Amino acid sequence: MPIQKNISFNITIYSTIEELNDNDKMIMIAAVQARKKAYAPYSDFFVGAAVLLENGEIIEGNNQENASYPSGLCAERVAVFYAGSKYPGMKIKAIAISAASLNHLVSEPAAPCGNCRQSISEYEFRQKEPIKILLMGETGSVIECKSLGDLLPLGFNSSYLN
Ligand code: THU
Repeated sequence: MPIQKNISFNITIYSTIEELNDNDKMIMIAAVQARKKAYAPYSDFFVGAAVLLENGEIIEGNNQENASYPSGLCAERVAVFYAGSKYPGMKIKAIAISAASLNHLVSEPAAPCGNCRQSISEYEFRQKEPIKILLMGETGSVIECKSLGDLLPLGFNSSYLN
């Protein structure tokens, strides 16, 4: 008989950034500031990400687009790759993400794309400690996920390669 299994996870929804604790609010503000410096002339969709490292440092990134569209990179990957290159092996505690558009108000939290989930999961799997994910649009509510793994069930990781 096949086995049926339900996979679910919990999120916390804050009605505004003001409800976050001091650390989380600080990195979300950093993500908002980073978002404003994005290079997004093709989509007009601006995304900022702020990575909180174990040493307390915050590393920011934003989306960098390109006339050859696929050559651009999302904010989350710019941020985690920069963190990984500046502090090899340093654990990531949390990542805050904020998105805004020049064309409409983004009032719902924007979730990371599949490629970014996979990229962040590499660091979470390696450090064996969850990476908290905080999501926000330009305004409005903030969603907190306790672990990136929640956003990527049945994900692929290096254990399959050994
Ligand atoms: N984008 C991000 O930076 N992060 C995501 O998780 C989703 C999409 C960027 C890529 C592109 O520059 C623009 O948003 C529109 O897709």
